[in-house]
Amino acid sequence: MNAAIRAVVRTAVYNNLKVLGIEEGYAGLIKGKIKRLDLRSVSGIINRGGTILKTRRCAEIKTKQGIEKAACQLKKRRIEGLVVIGGDGSFRGGWEIYKASKIPVAAIPASIDNDIAGTEETIGFDTAINTALTAIDRIRDTASSHERVFIVEVMGRKRGFLALSVGMAAGAEIILIPEIKYDLNKICEKLVAGYKRGKTSNIIIMAEGAGSSYAIAHQIKDVTGFEVRTTVLGYIQRGGAPTADSRILGGVLGYEAVRHLTRTKKAIMLGIDGGKVITRPLSYAWKHTKPVDRQLHKLIETLAI
Ligand code: F6P
Repeated sequence: MNAAIRAVVRTAVYNNLKVLGIEEGYAGLIKGKIKRLDLRSVSGIINRGGTILKTRRCAEIKTKQGIEKAACQLKKRRIEGLVVIGGDGSFRGGWEIYKASKIPVAAIPASIDNDIAGTEETIGFDTAINTALTAIDRIRDTASSHERVFIVEVMGRKRGFLALSVGMAAGAEIILIPEIKYDLNKICEKLVAGYKRGKTSNIIIMAEGAGSSYAIAHQIKDVTGFEVRTTVLGYIQRGGAPTADSRILGGVLGYEAVRHLTRTKKAIMLGIDGGKVITRPLSYAWKHTKPVDRQLHKLIETLAI
């Protein structure tokens, strides 16, 4: 997100616009935690994970009073445009603020889950893939040395995009995601068949929203007798120096977000379609659901025979 913040500030100053940074997301906006940003505020941040503006979940923005407080904070500072960087909740909050204040909003998709409809990729997704992949490559060393089955749980509370991409890159044998039902007996049959073909270790990538990785591990051990271990990667997937891809995506979307706000008074989202930056109505993000690539899921399991 820092690459996007840097691009927003630099593009705004380049266009002789004043820029304010809202700290701690909508919770900070409601409290008025808003500070001036200038060219130097965003020096040396392109290579830093996380966000210099901090962020937090905010239940109050889902209330009428919260929206009114947020709109009032913007109006009293005569703010003429709002850039929102985040996921589904951030987008919906931006829409409500737009409706209440008529201040144009440009929403930039940022989530390691890549679960926002209207864009092929979200900021942070590529970095999370590569962070998880480094960990899984290490796990593969011990899995093959000890001839074990490893279940690696990755983030993705509701969607399996991260698990699918990491699974493909890691050469995982099995991918478990919320969108595709799985049969545990078939999983065990597949593991036993692989063992008979000489495969002595397996990596199963499981999205956290697909169930309990620990319960699956116990069931596989009970049915097959194989040694099974579980690793939950957790919050390491949400930090670390952003990859080039994430930095470039943040820079391009931040630049386009400001350009949009200098041209129209609507509430839009920025996205990537066919490798190009596009804009869509902000509500597109929740009026549509991004489909999971079932062909990729099949391909991954074919390549792992
Ligand atoms: O939505 C992104 C995400 O990282 C999910 O993959 C994860 O389940 C969730 O956020 C964790 O939320 P929190 O940071 O509030 O614990």
